Amino acid sequence: MTPMTKMPLLSAVLGMVATVAIGANHVDPAVTAAIKARQSHMQLLAFNLGTLGGMAQGKIEYDAEKAQVAASNLATLSSVDFSPYFVVGSSNADVSETRALPAMWEVPEGVLAALAQLQAATAGMADSAGGGLEGLQAAMSPLGGACGACHQAYRAPAN
Ligand code: HEC
Repeated sequence: MTPMTKMPLLSAVLGMVATVAIGANHVDPAVTAAIKARQSHMQLLAFNLGTLGGMAQGKIEYDAEKAQVAASNLATLSSVDFSPYFVVGSSNADVSETRALPAMWEVPEGVLAALAQLQAATAGMADSAGGGLEGLQAAMSPLGGACGACHQAYRAPAN
């Protein structure tokens, strides 16, 4: 391809990018902010879970103090009220930058049950993570299960 023939292709691509950017501007900034906040909160959960998971699998050397900090962080992060993150109009049926399914709004009691499951699992982890690797490993499966159960029901698969 010569540089001349590349030019129209480039401007066509840039035109598409501009169109997408204009489309994104129509989303209510409050919706975008709430989505960013909940995804960031999920990243905080995943970061702390990663430490514990790494220790459970022997990829990170077990350290009682670090395990306890990660587990306490998870318990604290799980105790917040998530409701402000899930504003109406922020499901993946409304906007593209989220994987939250409409079921989150349709079945709120299911979401609350999933959060209660998460809180119980993180409390269990906080009780045992600092007391030895075996306790940490035993608490890992209910904790991973609590994350997974909610994702299964309320998060769209990655595309
Ligand atoms: C009550 C339901 C629920 C529980 C419990 C839950 N999640 Fe999520 N998680 C979601 C939903 C819904 C999304 C999609 C959010 C979005 O895209 O707006 C998500 C998204 C994520 C993401 C992707 C974030 C991003 O940057 O897009 C990660 C990572 C994640 N969760 C980790 C975890 C971990 C780790 C746990 C357990 C310690 C957990 N989640 C527990 C509902 C839950």
